[in-house]
Amino acid sequence: MALLAGPGTDRPAPAATFGAARPVIFLRDVTKTYPGGKVALRDVDLTIREGEFVFIVGPSGAGKSTLLKLLIRDEVATEGQVFIDGTDLARLGRREIPKVRRHIGTIFQDFKLLPTRTVWENVAFALEVTGMSRKRIAPLVDRVLALVGLTAQAGQLPTQLSGGEQQRTAIARALVHDPRLIIADEPTGNLDPLISWEIIQLLLRINELGVTVLMATHDAEVVTALRRRVVALEEGRVVRDELGAAYHRED
Ligand SMILES: Nc1ncnc2c1ncn2[C@@H]1O[C@H](COP(=O)(O)OP(=O)(O)OP(=O)(O)O)[C@@H](O)[C@H]1O
Ligand SMILES: [Mg+2]
Repeated sequence: MALLAGPGTDRPAPAATFGAARPVIFLRDVTKTYPGGKVALRDVDLTIREGEFVFIVGPSGAGKSTLLKLLIRDEVATEGQVFIDGTDLARLGRREIPKVRRHIGTIFQDFKLLPTRTVWENVAFALEVTGMSRKRIAPLVDRVLALVGLTAQAGQLPTQLSGGEQQRTAIARALVHDPRLIIADEPTGNLDPLISWEIIQLLLRINELGVTVLMATHDAEVVTALRRRVVALEEGRVVRDELGAAYHRED
């Protein structure tokens, strides 16, 4: 694929070439009840196809983060089914979970960088844990840092970076596995409006390279300006799923 094409990134051509893009995410009648009884998601049906850019919106507590956690199997659906790339996550063995997660890049509000490691090392670490050799890791890290515009900051520690640069480091780390799906939970939540736009532009560029992007956000201005698909949750239910939509319902 175009994103990080290079040795070891062979992948079959996207099914999109042959017709309707295939579902990357498929939820069927999903309910999530947390221990203690809180129902965070109710009867959620959702299909997201390869190459889409989708915003998940809704008030605090609506279930946005819970939905994203189900997709990386941080949480398991209480009822219903969650499929990623045709794999039923409930049927995954413990050993298979890391393999599925490796195809998904995750980005969070609080960056989650290793504080004692440089930008370069933070990104490299994501590959080291897979057992990849240093020789193969180095060019991949260099390439992804160039993609997010952090080549000059490669040797700096997270504390020596601005918030936007920290988030770009986290995005580089998410991309270094050459994921087909990026899941971002309020990635601009800690950033001022101008820097938020920079991060959004970067995610849009990544999407243009063929990566499906699913992003939970409270940023009404960004959502309304971009007119993408919007999935709105309220009290755990999908109350709106609209293409080319604004942050708030318009009818
Ligand atoms: N681990 C947990 N145990 C019990 N209840 C939880 C847990 N995680 C979330 N909840 C509850 O589930 C509901 C949905 O939470 P979730 O974090 O998915 O909402 P959200 O839409 O992401 O909200 P926010 O916009 O504030 O991030 C909330 O009522 C929350 O308190
Ligand atoms: Mg949340």
